[in-house]
Amino acid sequence: MADERKPVTVVELVAMKQRGERIVVLTCYDALFARLLDAAGVDILLVGDSVNQVLAGADTTLSATLDQMIYHTKIVRRGAARPMVVCDMPFLSYQVSREEAIRNAGRVMQETGCHAVKLEGGAPVAETTRALVNIGIPVMGHLGLTPQSVHALGGYRVQGRDERSAERLRADATALEEAGAFAIVLELVPAPLASQITKSLTIPTIGIGAGPACDGQVLVLPDMLGLNEPFTPKFLKRYAALAEDVREAVTLYAAEVREGRYPGPEHSFPK
Ligand code: KIV
Repeated sequence: MADERKPVTVVELVAMKQRGERIVVLTCYDALFARLLDAAGVDILLVGDSVNQVLAGADTTLSATLDQMIYHTKIVRRGAARPMVVCDMPFLSYQVSREEAIRNAGRVMQETGCHAVKLEGGAPVAETTRALVNIGIPVMGHLGLTPQSVHALGGYRVQGRDERSAERLRADATALEEAGAFAIVLELVPAPLASQITKSLTIPTIGIGAGPACDGQVLVLPDMLGLNEPFTPKFLKRYAALAEDVREAVTLYAAEVREGRYPGPEHSFPK
């Protein structure tokens, strides 16, 4: 087992793959949960642009902004001692030009204290990945269902089901590894293809809806805690039912306030 309290680094992640140790990743958007996930031994906290949907209520990740991602990454970093903190670069912050990508990713690193950034896409972002890695910014890749391209992909659908797109995914993964990415998220990819890609790489793969053979797994925290009840994809396992707990607690609180039962003498200051 990896040393529980040793900070997680890009070097340690590759060593974990070599030792066959699974990498535990969750999304995280604030310091409160960062402290809890750190204490529970999570290896990587991904400040996903999913924050724009899950917490901010938008339909897609496309309207997430750099300032929004910097704010959430900064507060996650405050709560995290051991885990690696990775910031998702939002749509249009790295696609326009290499110079803009360097400036924006550099800003993220300087202003948040995070350890790495994540870019969506394969071969088309390989040179940008290389440029960031060359100036010392670790890059996590993201292939398969890339939510920033949801309209071009025709919805949130499994990718790589036919041989042509499977071949493109394999080539994209190789291109990202060659460009210096330290890990690759595989989202909504058939399990046998994710297994093949995982075996072909020396860097770890982190799966979400990509089967059990990936080197690690990631889930969106409010989804796996059962806080986001309408979202029920096949790959999601709920480890708690917190929406129910919240409803129950708040209903009880409201009743006690209305009936004058809260606060009681034990919650009041006699003088
Ligand atoms: O934005 C996000 O939360 C992500 C994960 C689902 C991998 O990119």
